[in-house]
Amino acid sequence: MTDTPGKQGSPIPVPGSYGTSFFPMPMLEVIGFLTKTGDYTEKQLKKVGGATVFKAHPGIPTILLCNNVSAEFFFKAPNDLLEREDVQRFGPVEPQQKLIKHCNTAILSSGEMHTRSRGLIDEILRRRGNLMMSTFERICLEGFKQWPAQGKVPIEDGFQRLTAPFVFQWLLGVTPNIDDVVGWQNKIVGPYTDSGLTNLMFKLLVRVPGKVVAGSERITEVVRSSSLFSEYMELARKQGFTDEDNVARQLVFVCAFNMSGGISRFLLPSVTAISINTDARARMIAELDAWDPEKTDINDLPYLEAVLFECMRLYPWPRFIHKKAHRDFVLPADNGLAYQIHKGDLLMSHTPFVHRDATVFKNDPLNFRPQRFIDEPGLKDKVFTFGWARNQAGSYGCAGRSPAEYLWKLLVGHLARNYTWEVRGANLNLNNTLDVSPGDVAMEGFKQRNA
Ligand code: HEM
Repeated sequence: MTDTPGKQGSPIPVPGSYGTSFFPMPMLEVIGFLTKTGDYTEKQLKKVGGATVFKAHPGIPTILLCNNVSAEFFFKAPNDLLEREDVQRFGPVEPQQKLIKHCNTAILSSGEMHTRSRGLIDEILRRRGNLMMSTFERICLEGFKQWPAQGKVPIEDGFQRLTAPFVFQWLLGVTPNIDDVVGWQNKIVGPYTDSGLTNLMFKLLVRVPGKVVAGSERITEVVRSSSLFSEYMELARKQGFTDEDNVARQLVFVCAFNMSGGISRFLLPSVTAISINTDARARMIAELDAWDPEKTDINDLPYLEAVLFECMRLYPWPRFIHKKAHRDFVLPADNGLAYQIHKGDLLMSHTPFVHRDATVFKNDPLNFRPQRFIDEPGLKDKVFTFGWARNQAGSYGCAGRSPAEYLWKLLVGHLARNYTWEVRGANLNLNNTLDVSPGDVAMEGFKQRNA
């Protein structure tokens, strides 16, 4: 990768302003950014005359990337050009240290520490890979059978309770108390800004209840009681980790946040979208009905794959990924533009906007239309939901991309093939913090198909 955009014009300064770090501005900005990101970003875009790379202050001074060309550069860049911040944060969102106790989990690490945590989880996933399907059948398929009796299943909560026992069993062969895991998942992050007063206010307002902290300690104990823990501790020692509590908490984080949390959070808008877009749902069911799992792998169902990519395009999670410039460089953008980036600038892929870039997703970019990926398969390379781009040079990006895609297909495929339900009154909109409002939207009238 070169630092210059080649034939593009001479670089221009990034437009916009970082604004002030004085209270109450960072508080107002971060609340707007996190709770109504569509309106917040549109307003900023207007201020800079529609430029899709601009400075703003969504809690902290940031350069927002809202076009696909810049985001592709961002995800492909080597670590010596763009690196994660060396603090345990996702830009203006931070994990609750009461729950993670500063453990060195991969997604919150950079540099050497990242290499070590990532090495550990990559090796564990490799060792347990062949047990995924049997664990899925034992836990998830059995779990689904309980849903018709409930009749009404809140989507995110339902999948948290289905996937939490699955992931802990898959990687560790243990099952913590599921209420403890759901409590942990629901309180794991809070907002962060560069205003000390705002952060103090957030600390008072966004408190982690004592029972969630106690639950976190119980989950960690259960992980340490796993008969696999000593094997993983051996692996961790090879990566340079000696503190057993730190390693146990890394495992809790990967299971509860990356895996069960990531999958459930992404299934909330996915299942809502499938429920509402009845034509796409009918076509997906027709493909699943004609499918013989004995003969064809679920990965070979083209329409299911297209629905997955359309969900990843419209409802990427997390929505924002941050990296810091380690030297000056020129950032390519849409319309042949190029921006001058300076060492120390914090850049953020605003992935929902990146995935609605009309210069790339030309046909109806704001609407749910899986067919676009069948008509133009190359579009898949423009979807960066896993913090990853084809031919990337950096060492970041989701460690579980391929099992996560497979699990999404298994879960959605099984649901659509075997059950019917309705989702009423749900609204999918960029302004909703969870993509969907209300956040506790449920599948109603859930029953066995043809029952
Ligand atoms: C089996 C399920 C999953 C596993 C095992 C998994 C594992 C991980 C791990 C270990 C990381 C940290 C990677 C690193 O820092 O090097 C990570 C990052 C990430 N994951 Fe996943 N994940 C799963 C599911 C998901 C899902 C469902 C999504 C989104 C739909 C997702 C999106 C991401 C993103 C965006 C990152 C951050 C990448 C970056 O900062 O560059 N993951 N995942």
